[in-house]
Amino acid sequence: MSEFLKILKEVKHPGKGDRDIVDLGMVKDIDTEGNKVIVTLGFPKRRDPLTEYLVGSTRAAIIRNSPEGTEVEVKTIVIEEEKTKKNPSELGDEMIKDVKHIIGIASGKGGVGKSTVAVNLAVALARQGFKVGLADADVYGPSVPTMTGTEGMVPDAQKEDETEWIIPIEKYGVKWMSIGFFAQRHQALVWRGPMACNALKQMILQVKWEQLDYLLIDMPPGTGDIHISLLKDIPVEAAIIVTTPQNVALADVEKGVDMFSNPNINIPILGIVENMAWFTPEELPENKYYIFGKDGGKEMAEKMGLELLGQIPIVQSIREGGDKGEPVSLGSAPDGIAFMALAAKISEMVSA
Ligand SMILES: Nc1ncnc2c1ncn2[C@@H]1O[C@H](COP(=O)(O)OP(=O)(O)OP(=O)(O)O)[C@@H](O)[C@H]1O
Ligand SMILES: [Mg+2]
Repeated sequence: MSEFLKILKEVKHPGKGDRDIVDLGMVKDIDTEGNKVIVTLGFPKRRDPLTEYLVGSTRAAIIRNSPEGTEVEVKTIVIEEEKTKKNPSELGDEMIKDVKHIIGIASGKGGVGKSTVAVNLAVALARQGFKVGLADADVYGPSVPTMTGTEGMVPDAQKEDETEWIIPIEKYGVKWMSIGFFAQRHQALVWRGPMACNALKQMILQVKWEQLDYLLIDMPPGTGDIHISLLKDIPVEAAIIVTTPQNVALADVEKGVDMFSNPNINIPILGIVENMAWFTPEELPENKYYIFGKDGGKEMAEKMGLELLGQIPIVQSIREGGDKGEPVSLGSAPDGIAFMALAAKISEMVSA
């Protein structure tokens, strides 16, 4: 038993600050039958988002450390019933009444990785068993079609009670919607302000999302009129702010935070995601280079009294995944795990 416990200490829980499953008291039983090892893991929730990941890691750790031919069975039990649900979501809008939680992903600044974080978070949440949709609210520079490999796909429309509904594109277990589906590649989207706002709202409200646990909104860069108008008309429940660790980003984060705390908007901020927190070369995965400064996001979060939701490294595969339309969170490499951990955190904070 103790020998297996030692092995299982290698299995870290990414949603719990990387503490191991033994330390967290999740290993409820270890049994052997011939060459078979049977491990029982206890989870606090019926649908723990990291179940699949932790079961796989447990199995892998035992196989790695046991003689060839060892079989492993991992059983899971729920040790505590899920807490009673929060109040039913108070979505104001009839059109998205079946969407439980709408979460905006924003930053005061462009190019910090909002879309990368939004797309990977959506895929990670879906992999963890949630029903997820993502609306790309960047009408001028939509990047979701490229990042999800859905470029060139055209959503169907469906008429019902005089309303034309758009059917989102489904891939990787997520429902995607973007103005990019309605424009040719490289076609510049030239909208006048009010037109952009209307197109955007239509792309969120007139979509057949059906039942969703989470609808993520990838917000355009900045904090302009389009944001204010969007946030006034769409019942966004909470926001996530993405930043890089640089000092200069602080002012932009502050702008982003101010936008949500504006009395007319008043949307709570779940916390900060520090993207590009360090650089890790693929061939030296243990090495971390803090090229934009160390823990800048963490310090910003502390300074502003916000939670640090996660730190995402700069890894070549994250960029490549975006360019190829295959988000890294689909895989189990360490770069994907950072997004799985973020998803676990979000689903813990905003429980579906
Ligand atoms: N952690 C990361 N590691 C490697 N590359 C990254 C990472 N995060 C983002 N990138 C890359 O940086 C570029 C900008 O990212 P992204 O488009 O997600 O930013 P954005 O904040 O949505 O930009 P915009 O303000 O234009 O909407 C992309 O090429 C993306 O692949
Ligand atoms: Mg973007």
